[in-house]
Amino acid sequence: MKYSFEKGFLWGAATSATQIEGAAFEGGKGKNIWDHWYEIEPNRFYNQVGPTKASNFYVTYKEDIQRMKEIGFNSYRTSISWSRLIPDGNGAVNEEAVAFYQSLIDELINQNIEPIIGLYHFDMPFAMQEIGGWESREVVEAYSRFARICFELFGDRVKKWATHNEPIVPVEGGYLYQFHYPCVVDMKRAVQVAYNTMISSAMAIREFRKVKVENGQIGIVINLTPSYPRDAQNQDDVKAANIADLLFNRSFLDPSIKGTYPEELISLIKENNLLPVTNPEDYTLMKENTVDFLGVNYYSPRRIKAKEAAVDPSKPIMPESFFDNYDMPGKKMNIYRGWEIYEKALYDIAINLRDNYGNIPWYVSENGMGVQDEERFLDENGIVQDDYRIEFISEHLKWLHKGISEGSNCFGYHLWTFMDNWSWLNAYKNRYGFYRVDLNNHFERTIKKSGLWFKQVAESNELVI
Ligand code: BG6
Repeated sequence: MKYSFEKGFLWGAATSATQIEGAAFEGGKGKNIWDHWYEIEPNRFYNQVGPTKASNFYVTYKEDIQRMKEIGFNSYRTSISWSRLIPDGNGAVNEEAVAFYQSLIDELINQNIEPIIGLYHFDMPFAMQEIGGWESREVVEAYSRFARICFELFGDRVKKWATHNEPIVPVEGGYLYQFHYPCVVDMKRAVQVAYNTMISSAMAIREFRKVKVENGQIGIVINLTPSYPRDAQNQDDVKAANIADLLFNRSFLDPSIKGTYPEELISLIKENNLLPVTNPEDYTLMKENTVDFLGVNYYSPRRIKAKEAAVDPSKPIMPESFFDNYDMPGKKMNIYRGWEIYEKALYDIAINLRDNYGNIPWYVSENGMGVQDEERFLDENGIVQDDYRIEFISEHLKWLHKGISEGSNCFGYHLWTFMDNWSWLNAYKNRYGFYRVDLNNHFERTIKKSGLWFKQVAESNELVI
């Protein structure tokens, strides 16, 4: 079978500054929350590997861009590190950082690879965290200033921007499930963080339009976890799945695209005394500053059932106070990472965006398969034989193709990720790249079988299986 994609379809991969650059204390960069957390609690990080050991892209970006070209990329997403550009988050601009990002962007453009630049990918400058991080309006204002500076500096060459990457993740990690700094458990604070993040996104969009980036488009990257009820005929399961959808998906999708929150979500938050502090002008700000396009990161769905046991009122309220996760028998698993694989969800997302979000232009900004101990798949020539990744991408592309053929407005597919990279507390535990990175040999890159395969798909605009 042949699946063709339209001319100009974007093929590439996503990364983020903190995960690939390294040089955490070089080039005038300021400290961010990851540098700080690693300094005080290195044992939390897998094999005690911290952000200083990210994949050395700060040094090797030119060769890496060459590698992207070699495997057919016509686009590539990374982020600008806020603490590299403005070391204390809200003060002077670091000229070394300007020179680095300018050169990186120029290099991409010279190779005909369209840069898609994200502004926030989990890396709060530490000075900003000290005054409250996303809980603080002062930080929201500082982020908006950072965004404006980026548009002014790089907007002449970068035409696609994303305000945030996966805004739910710092909420979950930092305020609910303890895998990001500041690592607290407090749903009221989590809601405030989620809300302020959306305000910051709208403010950045307002700045973008003021700066008038010629032919520019601004979006947001949201990780969607479609929520499927255990039993679609059981009203309690359906209700529970709807709550999970409201909390994890629509809290970000709706304000970003429609400029408002779903009424049902507002009622739920109100009934549970979780309402955030707001400003009177927020409503108009959000309404007037919606995105031009959406990036969708998709890895796994959620399987949900109605709560089986009564909620213990002495325990802190959590999202799981409203539903139970359901361990569906027989689900397909990525056994190397422990995540469910459900390719059809990408089609469901495509149709949902077509029918409920004005058929907004969107692209798959991340999709990928993490594999622990991937060295076990090295062949005698030192090439990772990652047929499982080829199958993973193919199956997702098939469903995506179906969504597009039924009218969904999808313009690209990016894998997570270009080369194996440092992934927060998980460091290098799960490998995702088209290129293997050898930590024991000066970050040497070697193409994997999937990288060679992807080249064919990207260059021909066709998936053949
Ligand atoms: C994505 C994030 O959700 O998951 C990335 O955007 C992250 O930043 C990736 O690296 C993989 O996560 P993990 O925990 O499997 O390494």
